Amino acid sequence: MSVVTLTLDGRPVSAREGATLLEVCQESGVALPTLCHLDGLSDVGACRLCLVEVAGQRKLAAACVTQAQEGMEITTGSERLVRYRRQIVELLFAERNHVCAVCVANGHCDLQRLAASLGIDHVRYAYQHPALRLDASHPRFVADHDRCVLCTRCVRVCDEIEGAHTWDVAGRAAGCQVVTDLAAPWGESASCTGCGKCVQVCPTGALFEKEQAAGGMLSKHRDFLTYLKNAREKKEWL
Ligand code: FES
Repeated sequence: MSVVTLTLDGRPVSAREGATLLEVCQESGVALPTLCHLDGLSDVGACRLCLVEVAGQRKLAAACVTQAQEGMEITTGSERLVRYRRQIVELLFAERNHVCAVCVANGHCDLQRLAASLGIDHVRYAYQHPALRLDASHPRFVADHDRCVLCTRCVRVCDEIEGAHTWDVAGRAAGCQVVTDLAAPWGESASCTGCGKCVQVCPTGALFEKEQAAGGMLSKHRDFLTYLKNAREKKEWL
């Protein structure tokens, strides 16, 4: 295994060739905020929360999709980066209807946790208040698109782990949404196996079990994330 040496926040670190900057940070004990990344799934660089500065490059780099290279000098916590991350989280809140007090994921939501960790107590942008479709056609699950952050974890887990490819992304800009079976109602999907993996990996309350809405939830969610991480390490599904 080849090893590269780079500088992370001023200290030299070694990493295996091909590792992403996010992996280097995780292995070096440097915490980076993430939303679309999930151990066990491919990375797509959708949320941009893991942005880092690379010396000599004007553009910021998403750590989850940038490979470590020999001699790189990485900064992970500059004032500029913190400002961008706050801005991204605020824009996510403004874009759809994330009303934590009445959300099934309240207290177990990655977006809420990120906002708290970044000290966000208000949003400086105009709320868009979209009135998106709520799909409750599935016998067990609900998709509330007003709470979706388009991280595409559901799309990737359905494709890469379950192999069903029920979920996909349709539309552009403000019209962008995750859809099941070419935008057919979820309950009519011919490909959905009903496994619930998409629900388990959803970082917000966008996908949830009907049962969850009525009572206790996410211990199962946490169990599944542990399973996914272990399975990835053992490459169980390859
Ligand atoms: Fe890297 Fe979302 S975690 S872009």
